[in-house]
Amino acid sequence: MEYWFRKSSLAILLVLFLMALSFNTACAASNVTYDGRSLVIDGEHRILFSGSIHYPRSTPEMWPSLIAKAKEGGIDVIETYVFWDLHEPQQGKFDFSGRNDIVRFIKEVQAQGLYVTLRIGPFIESEWSYGGLPFWLRSIPHIVFRTDNEPFKREMERWTTKIVNMMKSEGLYASQGGPIILSQIENEYTLVEGAFHDKGKSYVRWAAKMAVGLQTGVPWVMCRQDDAPDPVINSCNGLRCGETFKGPNSPSKPALWTEDWTSQFQAYGQNPYIRSAEDIAYHAALFIAKNKGSYVNYYMYHGGTNFGRSASNYITTSYYDEAPLDEYGLLRQPKYGHLKELHAAVKLCSKPLLSGEQTTHSLGGQQKAYVYQANSGECAAFLVNNGSRNARVFFRNHPYILPRKSISILPDCRNVAFNTAMVSEQYSTRSMVPSEVFDSTARWEQYTEAIPRYENTTQTAKQLLEQTGTTKDKSDYLWYTLRFQHDTSDSQAKLNVYSRGHVLHAFVNGIFVGSAHGGRNAPSFSLDATVNLRKGVNDISLLSGMVGLPAGGAHMESKFYGLRRLRIQDKDFSRNSWGYKVGLFGDTSQIYSDVGSSKVQWKKHSNSANQRLTWYKTQFDAPEGSDPVALNLGSMGKGEAWINGESIGRYWVSLLTPQGNPSQQWYHVPRSFLKPSGNTLVLLEEEDGNPLGISLDRVTISNVCGQVSETQLPRVSSWVEQNQGGSNHRNYRRQTAPSVQLTCPPGRNISNILFASYGTPVGNCESYARGTCHSVYSRAIAELVCLGKNRCSILPSNLVFGDPCPNTRKSLVVDAQCQ
Ligand SMILES: *[C@@H]1O[C@H](CO)[C@@H](O)[C@H](O)[C@H]1NC(C)=O
Ligand SMILES: *[C@@H]1O[C@H](CO)[C@@H](O)[C@H](O)[C@H]1NC(C)=O
Ligand SMILES: *[C@@H]1O[C@H](CO)[C@@H](O)[C@H](O)[C@H]1NC(C)=O
Ligand SMILES: *[C@@H]1O[C@H](CO)[C@@H](O)[C@H](O)[C@H]1NC(C)=O
Repeated sequence: MEYWFRKSSLAILLVLFLMALSFNTACAASNVTYDGRSLVIDGEHRILFSGSIHYPRSTPEMWPSLIAKAKEGGIDVIETYVFWDLHEPQQGKFDFSGRNDIVRFIKEVQAQGLYVTLRIGPFIESEWSYGGLPFWLRSIPHIVFRTDNEPFKREMERWTTKIVNMMKSEGLYASQGGPIILSQIENEYTLVEGAFHDKGKSYVRWAAKMAVGLQTGVPWVMCRQDDAPDPVINSCNGLRCGETFKGPNSPSKPALWTEDWTSQFQAYGQNPYIRSAEDIAYHAALFIAKNKGSYVNYYMYHGGTNFGRSASNYITTSYYDEAPLDEYGLLRQPKYGHLKELHAAVKLCSKPLLSGEQTTHSLGGQQKAYVYQANSGECAAFLVNNGSRNARVFFRNHPYILPRKSISILPDCRNVAFNTAMVSEQYSTRSMVPSEVFDSTARWEQYTEAIPRYENTTQTAKQLLEQTGTTKDKSDYLWYTLRFQHDTSDSQAKLNVYSRGHVLHAFVNGIFVGSAHGGRNAPSFSLDATVNLRKGVNDISLLSGMVGLPAGGAHMESKFYGLRRLRIQDKDFSRNSWGYKVGLFGDTSQIYSDVGSSKVQWKKHSNSANQRLTWYKTQFDAPEGSDPVALNLGSMGKGEAWINGESIGRYWVSLLTPQGNPSQQWYHVPRSFLKPSGNTLVLLEEEDGNPLGISLDRVTISNVCGQVSETQLPRVSSWVEQNQGGSNHRNYRRQTAPSVQLTCPPGRNISNILFASYGTPVGNCESYARGTCHSVYSRAIAELVCLGKNRCSILPSNLVFGDPCPNTRKSLVVDAQCQ
């Protein structure tokens, strides 16, 4: 009776709390300030968890569900950059529609009762083309980016003011009743400041003053800027800010972590960087406990997709797929759930954390307690084990086991609500299920680019031109053509091209002779080939391709890309007359669009070998249901893909990781790009990929797996109930048996138990097998409890499974299939 009563009154309190929260953020103006402890919203200190979700990396149709999942995951704030290059593609011409509708995005966050951190930049890095600066900035006379340079400062101030005024006119700052509680000016400027000497320092002062002068009514931050001028807050970015951050540059500023990397960006040729849920939770908790951190933003919480040509140099089209919400917006478990539990545990400590004094106590060589004790008596403790072995420690005369590299959170200085290394959340496995294959020749049409020669070009120069300055970034491609007289008879010669572009395809007299490319860590490369020359006139046609502009670095505006030198045998042709042509024919004629499609004659698909620079076209219907959709381009080489005229990004499957796998094989096709039937897919293939191997796949969570041992902590959600009433519940872990909880995605049920073992199964959800002790009823019970259900919960107990091995500590692992 009492238990139920308490639970329902909690629920009522929760509803009241949520109502109060939404009232606060949706209607009344808020006063956002800060002090040495935290941001202060309407007089209240706050511990805030934030998640980066960048509006142009998903679609407006995805925004509501991404934000709702973030909120459900215990996120208070959504952080986004502002992408200047998207909004002002030509100087003075603006675009705030579709994926660029930043106001709609912020209003969606507001509607769901969360706050916003707006990182205006305008330089943002973000592995985004030109770090978000529009390419046309380059053509402003005498401009030098990101330093004390009048033309740059003028443009930066104009843009920043425009965005601030736009937010003000929509009433989006907290000071106006909107959700924006924090803004950022510049980004990681420390990394380039040295290159500009005194002008770097004066630029930082100018930027801070300019931003503050815009009177947003909310604080500004500069991340990684130790000398951020008052009142701008310097914040930390990185993997381990609890260990690396030197702290705010004034005792009156709070410790903020603007980028806690949940993974790291991925370049073609590299593996994804996988950061475990345990490691992310450990460092977030350490920052809060040790550095008195009060704001942690996960970068990224949802990474999404670099559509079109927006990715910076060599960066994959998929962005931070390893984030708590994967590229498709699906929960990446256990990361998502483990961080949710962390947030709940930290929130239980809010009062002592925010009003108490911090004291530290050594618990051993590598073990330490950070204790926060409020005057009112509330106490919270964080027991840190920085060692590589489990440790048994005493804290306030009670014993605790601290797993290696972990932090236990004790919201009452007594009972453990959460440990960063003990994952109770289920593991999920994502699968790509082919829904349509394109393996018949009859389905495809194709158009192969003609190789232009010197006479076909539109511009000539007696030198090798810089590529991006010549293309004005209107295309990834630039043709360099050369015509010369070969006086001796037909013969073979050695061709050597040295390039500072990204990829190169070489043709001699219209015949393909070789390709070469650089890489993220190889800014230049050479192409060497033995070629046939004929007596008389010879034509060399070199296609130089870029895989994204740089995203940062000093003097980005004057970097050299493209060909540097060409030699045939020992003769250098670099100063001959070169002919230039920007883009491919299909690219400049937009043959991937409805209108442009008729500008070329599409032919039936033919399997001729070594076919370069070929466009492929086919039609398909949208897969049924609502699962996310992706193209499996595993059979292709390198290029770009369009759906109904919209680019879903560059692909590069042929540049393999050191282990021999493509860095990215699946390419997201947002549902909102699709019509129910008659969709057009167009691909530009630079190499000799085979379109017959392409499939359109549904992206689903196919398996869920749970693991729990008898000694494991219960979930944080049950902590409050267990620990109310003041009695000594230090041993509550024995009172609340944790259970294996499995949940399939909405609308799908458990269809099969792949593995179940109560006893001493070996390994965990990542690799499991029966151990020496195993209950023979394991599978039958799991099937009985879970089959046909969307979610189920099984207690690892002798009462359920019988006792297969008395006096042994047992655990339960269940792996189930969702259908
Ligand atoms: C905002 O809060 C600060 C302290 O938190 C206070 O000094 C200031 O007067 C408040 N401003 C308004 C307009 O309420
Ligand atoms: C924890 O240990 C690592 C080495 O494993 C060390 O680099 C780091 O500084 C230690 N952190 C603290 C807070 O002592
Ligand atoms: C290049 O010019 C020649 C001669 O005018 C023409 O025959 C050929 O089709 C052109 N090629 C391309 C790719 O435009
Ligand atoms: C899935 O499980 C739910 C209960 O968890 C049930 O109501 C529903 O009928 C099941 N659906 C199917 C297709 O079995």
